Amino acid sequence: MDLAESARQRRWYHTMELAPDLTTDGWFDLRPHVDRYGLPESMEGMRALDVGTWDGFWAFEMERRGADVVALDLDDERDLDWQPRNRPETFPDEPRGAGFRMAHELLGSKVERINLSIYNATPEEIGQFDVVLCGNVLIHLRDQLLALERIANLCSGTFVTSEEYDTLSSLLPFSVARYRADRPAAVVFWQPSKKTWGKMLWTAGFDRVEVKERFTMEANDGLKVKQILHHAHKS
Ligand SMILES: C[S@@+](CC[C@H](N)C(=O)[O-])C[C@H]1O[C@@H](n2cnc3c(N)ncnc32)[C@H](O)[C@@H]1O
Repeated sequence: MDLAESARQRRWYHTMELAPDLTTDGWFDLRPHVDRYGLPESMEGMRALDVGTWDGFWAFEMERRGADVVALDLDDERDLDWQPRNRPETFPDEPRGAGFRMAHELLGSKVERINLSIYNATPEEIGQFDVVLCGNVLIHLRDQLLALERIANLCSGTFVTSEEYDTLSSLLPFSVARYRADRPAAVVFWQPSKKTWGKMLWTAGFDRVEVKERFTMEANDGLKVKQILHHAHKS
């Protein structure tokens, strides 16, 4: 089977246009939301990091705009954060990232994908970046603040972050995160309120934190995810 045919038959997370006659049928189509993220039209000469790239939608988008892109993700499902009760008993042998690699080849991309947890990503190891983008990764992490501290150290320019917020606790006038780790099958530990996400960015070392947008992302099975999108900078 040729590569394009394999891509047609694969189950994708991201909807992506890989060739004129080949658009993947992903769980999430981010294309209608791209403008909200406020990426520079031209990213020529910039270094960019996509944290938790999965199939690579954002990495390839930043490359299309001219950036030199590093995409970070984990090859082994065992290395993801799991609540003990939700941790699968067996894991696939095949390394993760097959979709990314397929898209990479079909697009003729030069994005460098590295198998590294954001918890262990340091400037000594991978350098610093003019733009760091992290979409819907922190919501799945046990230690969101450690990941944000790592990102703050990696970011010399703009941090673009979009994450799910908790609507109920957003009604409270103070900063809280709702405990969500007791649900079966959902790999979410803490679901911060809108205000809390902003405070967490500041705590992690970003001095200027701006809410760009609130919007709802809808998956192709009807799942709706409430998003808060920030841009954050150090002074
Ligand atoms: C829900 S997907 C989001 C994909 C993409 N960022 C987006 O905006 O559509 C979460 C991604 O984060 C990755 N991830 C989870 N834990 C991670 C960690 N500790 N370090 C790096 N990536 C991680 C997962 O493997 C997965 O690709």
